[in-house]
Amino acid sequence: ELSLKGRDMIELDEYSPEEIQFLLDSAIEIKRKQKNGEVYQPLKGKTIGLIFEKSSTRTRVSFESGMFQLGGHALFLSKNDIQLGRGEPISDTAQVMSRYLDGLMIRTFGHDNVVNLAKYASIPVINGLSDMAHPCQVLADLQTVLEHKGKLKGLKMAFIGDGNNMAHSLLIGGAKMGMHVAVASPKGYEADASIVKLSEEIVAQTGGKITITQDPIEAAKDADVIYTDVWASMGFEEEQAQREAAFADYQVNEELVKAAKPDYLFLHCLPAHRGEEVSEGVIDGANSVIFDQAENRLHAQKALMVALMA
Ligand code: CP
Ligand code: NVA
Repeated sequence: ELSLKGRDMIELDEYSPEEIQFLLDSAIEIKRKQKNGEVYQPLKGKTIGLIFEKSSTRTRVSFESGMFQLGGHALFLSKNDIQLGRGEPISDTAQVMSRYLDGLMIRTFGHDNVVNLAKYASIPVINGLSDMAHPCQVLADLQTVLEHKGKLKGLKMAFIGDGNNMAHSLLIGGAKMGMHVAVASPKGYEADASIVKLSEEIVAQTGGKITITQDPIEAAKDADVIYTDVWASMGFEEEQAQREAAFADYQVNEELVKAAKPDYLFLHCLPAHRGEEVSEGVIDGANSVIFDQAENRLHAQKALMVALMA
């Protein structure tokens, strides 16, 4: 029996394809239980702290309600309301929290903060989004594709836009599952070279493929999944105008999706800006599964918390 007890979730590269598949299968089973009205509370009496340095709708609500459904309790800890925001070291925060809680989630700017929290905490630490990675989102994304397509291996997933945290975690997660991940970004906004290299090393093992291009049509060609994200992520708001110019040819719209397979799925981590990175017709169209995807944050994170904390 595969056990992930006590592990951290900083990025999906630390997990084997079998372990990721286990989490996805578990998420699908937990979803089934919930839809059937079955009570499932393996985390009764357990607590998780949710540290937020940035805004959130999905991550906060899905972790809080998910933990409650599993029989446990979640504490929302806005960074500015805890002493961390007044300069208490992350190492002290980690060690103190480890005396009270059974798990921690952190949403922060610097990826180092996640790494350091995990280094000093004796309890599992989950990355709820950093500037580098968003693994919880990609677990939900992979679950969504698996549910709609019945498989992951061999599918082509195109990410059109900023080479940001989403691009990184999709590269790694897709590579792990043997997918062809194609990322199209304008010059100057490419995915981190070290992440591209890592994902290329992964596909050498899993039989997937990585394509990095500046051409959105090349990325979207025959794709099974078209994914995009905002042009200006949290923390980059002041670059909005400059980014709108740089990404003008990277909108996912009716014209671009003609290059994809007719039964392509449209995914977006949300929040979205209709009329910027995606046209209204595509995001609200028949191929869009954005709300299944958002829902799956709940199920995927419940599976993750059970695996790491039960
Ligand atoms: N997709 C996502 O993480 O959404 P929130 O920022 O609302 O948590
Ligand atoms: N790339 C976006 C994702 C939000 C869920 C951001 O970091 O703001």
